[in-house]
Amino acid sequence: MKIAVLGSGTGSNFSALQKAIVQGELEAEIMLVISDHEEAGILKKAKQFGIPALFEKGGKDFSERVAEKLVAEKVQVVCLAGLMRLVKRPLLEAFPNRILNIHPSLLPLYPGKEAWKQALDDGATQTGCTVHLVDAGMDTGEVILQKQLDILKGDTPETLHARIQELEYQAYQEALRGFISSEAV
Ligand code: GRF
Repeated sequence: MKIAVLGSGTGSNFSALQKAIVQGELEAEIMLVISDHEEAGILKKAKQFGIPALFEKGGKDFSERVAEKLVAEKVQVVCLAGLMRLVKRPLLEAFPNRILNIHPSLLPLYPGKEAWKQALDDGATQTGCTVHLVDAGMDTGEVILQKQLDILKGDTPETLHARIQELEYQAYQEALRGFISSEAV
């Protein structure tokens, strides 16, 4: 399965996916990584792995430019991992039901930014992460897989976020394995 990963941040989910691929735990190939931030850690990590790493600056036609590149690489599944912008029609239409996102809460709870902080502020006792299909909304597409964890008494935003991220790495791989073995691709 040919994958592309799109992100704006540090790229730890991307790294976890690539490590799973290298270790033979995920039958896939990451064809390219695209970021809308030139200095993003995800691009640096991609280069270290020897994977084509592209900076695409934001703007109205971001989705169109990205879609063209992914289609040219014959990408089958697009994985969003910390992409801080909404995906628009040209990309959604080029990859119908083939764009996944990872979000650090049990959606539909706490969409948007810093979901782990939202959970803490809300006094929740549990939270987790969600892999979902991407549609035109923000963190609204069909849920594919969720993993949950308990919020501990002494949790700070930092400790909780770190534990959720560990869970995310497992969830993304698991969701992709499901995708590969299903009829979806
Ligand atoms: C993850 O926590 C993910 O849930 C959210 O953005 C973060 C990306 O982190 N959508 P990283 O760049 O993969 O480290």
